[in-house]
Amino acid sequence: MPARTGVSSLDMQACRIRFALFALLVAMAGWPARAADWPRIDSAIRRDEALEARVRGIVAGMTLAQKVGQMTQAGIQAASPDDVRRYFLGAVLNGGGSWPDGAKHAAPADWVALADRYYEASLATGLAVPIPVLWGTDAVHGHGNVHGATLFPHNIGLGAARDPALIERIAASTARAVRATGIDWVFAPAVPVAQDLRWGRSYESWSQDPALVREYAARYTRGLQGRFADDANAIATVKHFIGDGGTTGGQDQGVTRAPLDELIEVHGAGYFGALAAGAQTVMVSYSSWVDTATGIDHGRMHGNAALLAGALKQQVGFDGFIVSDWNAIGQLPGCSNARCAAAVNAGIDLFMVPEDWKAFIANTIAQVLAGEIAHARIDDAVTRIVRVKLRAGLFDGRKPSLNRYAGRIDALQDRTLAREAVRESLVLLKNERSALPLAPGAKLLVVGKSADNIANQAGGWSLTWHGTGNSNADFPHADSILAGIRAVAGEANVTFSADGTGVDAARYDAVIAVIGETPYAETSGDLPAPGTVRHTDRYPEDLAALQAVAEKGPPVITVLVSGRPLYVNDLLNLSDAFVVAWLPGTEGKGVSDVLFAAAGGRPVRDFRGRLPFAWPGVACPGPRASGPNGAPPLFPRGYGLRYAKGATVPRLPLDPARRCGLVQPPTGSASWPSE
Ligand code: GLC
Repeated sequence: MPARTGVSSLDMQACRIRFALFALLVAMAGWPARAADWPRIDSAIRRDEALEARVRGIVAGMTLAQKVGQMTQAGIQAASPDDVRRYFLGAVLNGGGSWPDGAKHAAPADWVALADRYYEASLATGLAVPIPVLWGTDAVHGHGNVHGATLFPHNIGLGAARDPALIERIAASTARAVRATGIDWVFAPAVPVAQDLRWGRSYESWSQDPALVREYAARYTRGLQGRFADDANAIATVKHFIGDGGTTGGQDQGVTRAPLDELIEVHGAGYFGALAAGAQTVMVSYSSWVDTATGIDHGRMHGNAALLAGALKQQVGFDGFIVSDWNAIGQLPGCSNARCAAAVNAGIDLFMVPEDWKAFIANTIAQVLAGEIAHARIDDAVTRIVRVKLRAGLFDGRKPSLNRYAGRIDALQDRTLAREAVRESLVLLKNERSALPLAPGAKLLVVGKSADNIANQAGGWSLTWHGTGNSNADFPHADSILAGIRAVAGEANVTFSADGTGVDAARYDAVIAVIGETPYAETSGDLPAPGTVRHTDRYPEDLAALQAVAEKGPPVITVLVSGRPLYVNDLLNLSDAFVVAWLPGTEGKGVSDVLFAAAGGRPVRDFRGRLPFAWPGVACPGPRASGPNGAPPLFPRGYGLRYAKGATVPRLPLDPARRCGLVQPPTGSASWPSE
């Protein structure tokens, strides 16, 4: 048991004075955020004085070691339930690709059993008032880490759907799924307003339209958290504060260069929506900020007291807790993964230190005792953490397995809703020669590496962190796009050749080519300069498959499975119809639902998706797909054809560029063109 560390009342007084002085300096600095800049947000979760009194009573009874333990989040792969008990850990998490006992196919009951053990351990710490532990997970498109769970389209596809009510329903479904595994905290919604889609996390962004992101963030939060009055509610996390999607060149964890107004109006939009809906936690961005209006480099967000303690907490009025990102504190100057007073003093409350959590606790206690961190800061952090836990019902005395969704496979699945989301997400870019809709009895040739590949459909954050290392067998309750086509057209009418060889396309009524990106997450998905955003530069096999079947007589319908818009003029020219399916998840039948006509020839369903981001017409686009000298994109945000409303897409020029420079984003572009 770590030595209990008591502190005299005199020390407490001295520390309170120091913290008050710090807060005064931040306010006096008036930087960066003039009060008028950041909106005051009234949360749907109101302050409750009776609850606050309980919080004060709990915190008052805690030692410094217990408080710092409560501020620490460990990975389940590196902290046992007994560690939670011995070190008073406030939270655990399973990162992408982390499962109970390292078992990829762990059943919901296995997850729930582990959650119960962590919970019971957190009640056995000896605290005067035991504080239940939180478990956070990246259920960012359904409960992605869990074998057998339904995976929804990633955010970029949901942005194409333009359906806020759908977002709320998906969030509510995700909360049930998370509770089915004994987990109570979701690291979602991500609310980046991505600017340069070279960014490896572009698919986690709903749209380049701040107004849509704000509305979606509110609805997602409401769907996930409700009023914490239902077993199907889970705690939301708005992330990553602030400017994660605005970095130069789309570099993941890079530098966002923008004036304060743009940071607030564009990159802040999702926070204002989610916080108004009552979001109780905010995750900090790895990225840095340079204010292009003043030229001041404000450094990494994890050390930015003015934006975290100042703007978010004091001015916006956020009274939940701020959580750091995975080992992000180690990126601050003078810090390591296990030691960072600067991040504590910046206003972060809970520290995601998956491996080095024990050293972090010891070092932080020492830094408090050395006067590098005020006790008042520690008390503020623990107060916020306990407040959120009380609001979320963690103190209701029921262990995770007593939640009515615990262990339920049916709560992990919502295939009908996910299939509906896929249908709504599809964007029709081109439809010449009446290639679509397909006649139900047509003889079809299907080609392309992503036709029968559920891992490609699902993308990152699916069973594993990057979504790699998975096969169709890892997704027992899922349908590939090919399975959907076969279900509508009839097995006997469909021939499949992944690379388009060994078959004569001329013998078929139509060819469907399902191509696209292979899974990635975060930095692994970056397209850094001098690379281009030309799809064929990374995936020549897709052009080859199209070349094998195009211009042979039958129309070619291309379905692109991708986490973002890409330069595909060469592929568009070889396609009579072109459908963007984004990253649809487990429900490939949602694609075939829209490709076919009914017996009478009328489409069964029309397309309704519209581009959430502009689509590039050059290999080296700037932010928002702008061409050289700000030339317009190939297709603007909002573009999307209908069966009932087509448009001719001419043969497109081919951009010879093979290398790109680093494109500086236009600054001061806070005004946004309407669709
Ligand atoms: C990752 C991501 C963040 C995620 C966290 C926990 O690095 O940046 O979005 O919630 O770590 O997996």
